[in-house]
Amino acid sequence: DRFLASVGTVPTAVPSPNRVQDRTRPEPAAPTDGFTNTPDTDTAVAANRSWGAGIRARMRDSALGTATADAGRLHSRTELDDVVTGARDAGAAWRELGADRRAEILHRAGDELAARRADLLEVMGAECGKVLEQGDPEVSEAIDFAHYYAERARRLDDVAGARFSPAALTVVTPPWNFPVAIPAGSTLAALAAGSPVVLKPADQARRSAAVVAEALWAAGVPREVLRYVQLDENELGSALISHPAVERVVLTGAYETAELFRSMRPDLPLMAETSGKNAIIVTPAADLDLAAKDVARSAFGHAGQKCSAASLVILVGSVATSRRFRRQLVDAVSSLHVDLPWTERAQVGPLIEPASGKLLSALTTTGPGESWVITPERLDEHGTLWRPGVREGVAAGSEFHLTEYFGPVLGIMTADTLEEAIGLVNRVEYGLTSGLHSLDEDEIDTWLRTVEAGNLYVNRGITGAIVQRQPFGGWKKAAVGTGTKAGGPNYLFGFGTWADEPVAA
Ligand code: ALA
Repeated sequence: DRFLASVGTVPTAVPSPNRVQDRTRPEPAAPTDGFTNTPDTDTAVAANRSWGAGIRARMRDSALGTATADAGRLHSRTELDDVVTGARDAGAAWRELGADRRAEILHRAGDELAARRADLLEVMGAECGKVLEQGDPEVSEAIDFAHYYAERARRLDDVAGARFSPAALTVVTPPWNFPVAIPAGSTLAALAAGSPVVLKPADQARRSAAVVAEALWAAGVPREVLRYVQLDENELGSALISHPAVERVVLTGAYETAELFRSMRPDLPLMAETSGKNAIIVTPAADLDLAAKDVARSAFGHAGQKCSAASLVILVGSVATSRRFRRQLVDAVSSLHVDLPWTERAQVGPLIEPASGKLLSALTTTGPGESWVITPERLDEHGTLWRPGVREGVAAGSEFHLTEYFGPVLGIMTADTLEEAIGLVNRVEYGLTSGLHSLDEDEIDTWLRTVEAGNLYVNRGITGAIVQRQPFGGWKKAAVGTGTKAGGPNYLFGFGTWADEPVAA
C-alpha cells in the first residue's frame, strides 16, 4: 500500500474513520489504485536541500502569479455578471465532454501542478509566509486531489448514469492558509463533477491561487470553464454569492463567513469547512516521545494558522501530575526554528498579518489560574514572527478552552481520566480534528466511539490529512451546509443534484 509507505514512520496509526458527515452513506473500501504524492516531508526536504535553496533564493522577490491575479480583477457589477454568466454558459460543453475526457484533463492538471512544484512553493512562501517544509506536502495534496477526483468522476458516471446533474456553476472561495491545496482541491472537484467554476481566492493568497489556475488552464481546462476573479469591493462579493446563476458555493473559512453567506442566499447549497478548536489527548499509555513531537508539530506548523491545528493538549492521569511530558514538550517546542520562509532553517514562519485582537491577547496575557510554560516572544517589529507559546492551567469552560485563535499558542489542560478528557474535547462547539496518543486498544476504542470531531487521528499529528486515505471534513460548527468530506469517495456527490439517493461505487 503506497499510502502506508508514505506514513510508515507512525507506529500504530489508525486511519481516520470516515464516519461523521458520510455516516449515512456507506464508504467503500479504499481502492487499490492508490494515489500518493505525499512524501515524508522531513526526508523529502532534507534530500532536496540544494533544490530548496534555489526556491528560497527566489521567494523573497517572487512575482509569480501577478499577471493572472491582476487580469482577474473585476471592478463592476457588469464585469461580474459577464464572468458569471459566461462561465455558466460554457458549462454545457464541459458537461458534454463526459467524465472520461474530463478525467484525462484532470490527470494532466495533476501533472501540470507537479511540474510547477517549485513555483508553487516559491509563491506560497513569498505571499503567505509558508515555509518549504509545510508547503511541500501541500503541493503533493493538490496533485493527489487532481488524480483522485479524476478517477472519482469516472465512477460518478458509472453510478449515476444520466441521474446526476452537475451544478450549473460553482463558486469556490478558498482561504489564505492553504493557498494551493484548498483552491486546487475545491476547484478540481467541481470540474471533475462537470460544473464550471468561478474561483475567488482570499486576497492575501491571490497569486498562489493564480498559479494553480494557470496549471489547470495549461492542462486543458478551458478558460471560460474556470474563471479566476479578484473583487474590488465587498459589495461585489455579496453580488457573486447572491447571483442567481450560482448553484453551489464551496467555502473554507471562518464560521462567521459561512453564516454571512447563508444570510445572503438562504436557499444556496453551501459546502463550508469552517473553524476549529482542536485537542490532542495524551494518556499514560502513550509513547510520550512521539506525543511531544506530534503535539508541537500540530500546534505550530504554519505558526498554528490551520483550522486543523492543535490548540489544546489534554494530559491524563500521571502524564498530568508528573513534569516529564511537559519537559519533553518544552524541548520539542523550543527546538522549532522560527524565521522567514526564505531563510534556510525556517520551520515556523510568520503570521499572515501582525497579531491583533484576540490572538494578540492570547499571546500576551493569561487567564485566571494560567501561567506560561513557554512565554511567546515577538521576534520582529511588525508582530508577525512569534516564538510559540505554551500555557498551562487552562480551566474547563475558560476562554482559552473554547476560543479559536489561529496562531502560535497552545494550552495545556489536565484530566483525571480519559473520559473526563473526552468531555473537555466535546465541550467545544467546533468538531474538526481531534487526536489521541495512547497505545492501549481499549482507550483507542473508547475515544473513537465517543469523541465528537470529523477527523480523528491516533498516534499521529492532527494536521495534514491525506487524500483518499484520510478524507477531511468537520462536524458540529466546523461544517456548515451540505457536503461530504474532501478527498473522500463521496465528495463529488455534492456538486450536483440527483434524481435519487446516490450510492458509492
Ligand atoms: N486538510 C488540512 C489538514 O489536514 C486542513 O491539515
